[in-house]
Amino acid sequence: MAGRVDALYFFLLALSVFFSILIAGLIVYFAIKYRRRSPDSVGTNIHGGLLLELTWTVIPLLITMVIFVWGANVFFAMSAPPEETLNIYVVGKQWMWKFQHLDGQREINELHVPLGRAVKLIMTSEDVIHDVFVPAFRVKADVLPGRYTNIWFQATKPGRYHLFCAEYCGTRHSGMIGEVTVMEPSEYQAWLSGGTGEGSLASAGEKLFQDLACVTCHRSDAQGRGPALQGLFGKTVQLQSGETIVADEAYLRESILQPGSRITAGFQPIMPSFQGLVTEDQLLQLIEYIKSQSAVDNVRSEK
Ligand code: CUA
Repeated sequence: MAGRVDALYFFLLALSVFFSILIAGLIVYFAIKYRRRSPDSVGTNIHGGLLLELTWTVIPLLITMVIFVWGANVFFAMSAPPEETLNIYVVGKQWMWKFQHLDGQREINELHVPLGRAVKLIMTSEDVIHDVFVPAFRVKADVLPGRYTNIWFQATKPGRYHLFCAEYCGTRHSGMIGEVTVMEPSEYQAWLSGGTGEGSLASAGEKLFQDLACVTCHRSDAQGRGPALQGLFGKTVQLQSGETIVADEAYLRESILQPGSRITAGFQPIMPSFQGLVTEDQLLQLIEYIKSQSAVDNVRSEK
């Protein structure tokens, strides 16, 4: 994306430089050309100039439309990740970045990614608003408490790149920095397999699903008091209120923390809230477990 962002940026810069020089030059030129030559000289009164006014309206309009269409184009490309992405969860907290790979590896203030692969970061915050910024990749997005935001990038050159927090988040905001390491795919595989042995994110979620006794109601045989969660992720859910909602990360998160807010049609609002009982990290594990139970967006990093 860097090339496209830079092209637009340098176009804007060139445009600004061109008009700055043009306007400053004309000011000086006119100041000399139309200067007062004798103490009693008076300028001619000029009323209107249709052609002139049309010109200085239409030309800027065309230029700004070019900027708008071009900018929108780049924006949409940046905000729409490809179908197949390597998903990595990010949790920001005062004052560190926690990265969670689907295979179970966790990292703090360091992120390892493979070269040439589209990577999607699914991000949330444990406390205040942070902002992930990797200047070399031209990606930057707010990381918000209580919400999931996404960015994606595809690294084209191996190396180590700066990672910053770009939203003032308290005393040690300036220390909330890290590094993104882009590795050759084979090195990345080796790095992944040298992991902590904690098991995948989904398997940690599965264990939590048992430990928290979610499984007693959300049974796979659909005989439970809660909806079965197999194949749920990415589907449209019919709610009791008559509305529908797509079961994405945000909906799953809300259903765990405030189960009463959007009840699936045909079920009673009997689920207790898990607010304060599960951490952001554990929420991601549960969500990843539910994702792993469905075909959609179930892209494993070993593929
Ligand atoms: Cu986190 Cu600034």
